[in-house]
Amino acid sequence: MAVIDSDVLVIGAGAAGLFAALTAGQRGRRVQVIDHANKVGKKILMSGGGRCNFTNTGTTAANYLSANPHFCKSALARYTPADFIALVEKHRIAYHEKELGQLFCDTSSKAIVRLLLDECAQAGVQVRTDTAVEAIETIADGWQLRTSNGVYTARSLIVATGGLSVPTMGATGFGYEIAKRYGHSVLPTRAGLVPLTLSGKPLERFDGLSGVALEVEAQCGKASFRNQLLITHRGISGPAILQISNYWQPGKELRLDLLPGTDALTWLQQMKAERGASELRTVLGEILPKRLAQRLCEQWLGDKPVRQFDERQLQTAASLLNDFPLTASGTEGYRTAEVTLGGVDTAKVSSASMESKLQPGLFLVGEVLDVTGWLGGYNFQWAWASGHAAGQAA
Ligand code: FDA
Repeated sequence: MAVIDSDVLVIGAGAAGLFAALTAGQRGRRVQVIDHANKVGKKILMSGGGRCNFTNTGTTAANYLSANPHFCKSALARYTPADFIALVEKHRIAYHEKELGQLFCDTSSKAIVRLLLDECAQAGVQVRTDTAVEAIETIADGWQLRTSNGVYTARSLIVATGGLSVPTMGATGFGYEIAKRYGHSVLPTRAGLVPLTLSGKPLERFDGLSGVALEVEAQCGKASFRNQLLITHRGISGPAILQISNYWQPGKELRLDLLPGTDALTWLQQMKAERGASELRTVLGEILPKRLAQRLCEQWLGDKPVRQFDERQLQTAASLLNDFPLTASGTEGYRTAEVTLGGVDTAKVSSASMESKLQPGLFLVGEVLDVTGWLGGYNFQWAWASGHAAGQAA
């Protein structure tokens, strides 16, 4: 069987792998990219509701979770959101800011995949799908991989196989296995940016409210996010919950401010003074979704006219409205998670080049590493930046 030789071989034709490949190709390296899936960039295609939130203009290291919060700094500083925006503009892709610095394509995520493939083609990068890796070994001057489509040899190997989320899109733990084989430790993984599930009494008390959405401030430990919450059949979702899910672990309590920006006690006292004859559910239904206001009154706050609440009862109701405690039973898991927390420990990876400090010529980029961004374009920015760092060095 013919041996396909190159300078750089990339496993994984997702965001980070394609970006590493095009960067190395632009430096004159001969680059091959292989992927076991039948299509490249599947997660890019499904991202941002089909419009790919491709970066965030406010990206800083503080938007990422990692056992080493400093690791991502160097790559993020050397390939910035402005750099990716310039590339998007070069390809005449129309985009807009949705909120909080989040940039989306106006029409379709397909434009981002096309950008990456065009840049790869211009840089002479060869991309091969439907190619499963059967064996990896080091040889005198690099690497030899046996695949379902022949033998590949290369000086450098870039592992860009992503995390475990959405297995139906081709996600595997293969990158973790390669890293372990060359002496890296893999920090425990768990689903991130994922809806939370409720069970037992908490789920019963929200029964029938699925579809209700409201702005909240969700808090877990020291982290808090103000954004939309959506009640689902199984629990809670929406951007505020996806964000806080990165910080939640079984047993940790969540707290929800159901009236962010409003001091509930002052508001309740004012309602008692001005509209004392009205039912609490009626006045609350003017600032919260009506069905939720009714349920909160029936189950937690008390269902009666506001003037019948004494000061102590008002204080209890106010503290529930501004600081509602909720115990999640779990997450919806990798099936619906946008990202994987944890992964290859960055301790033995160069933050400048993404090269293994244990195995020369081995590079790890993107989500396979223990670097996880918030919701809002940060994960793609990490894929571009880490891919760029490896592509410059491999
Ligand atoms: P990615 O998962 O993109 O690519 C890995 C590639 O490796 C895949 O092509 C896979 O087939 C391949 N592979 C895996 N195992 C292999 C094996 N054994 N052999 C060969 N190939 C293998 N982020 C963001 O910033 N903005 C957004 O809008 C969204 N939206 C979003 C929506 C949904 C539904 C999901 C699931 C995720 C997002 N994300 C996101 C997160 C973002 O998609 C993710 O962080 C990046 O795609 C990670 O890029 P990587 O290249 O590291 O992995």
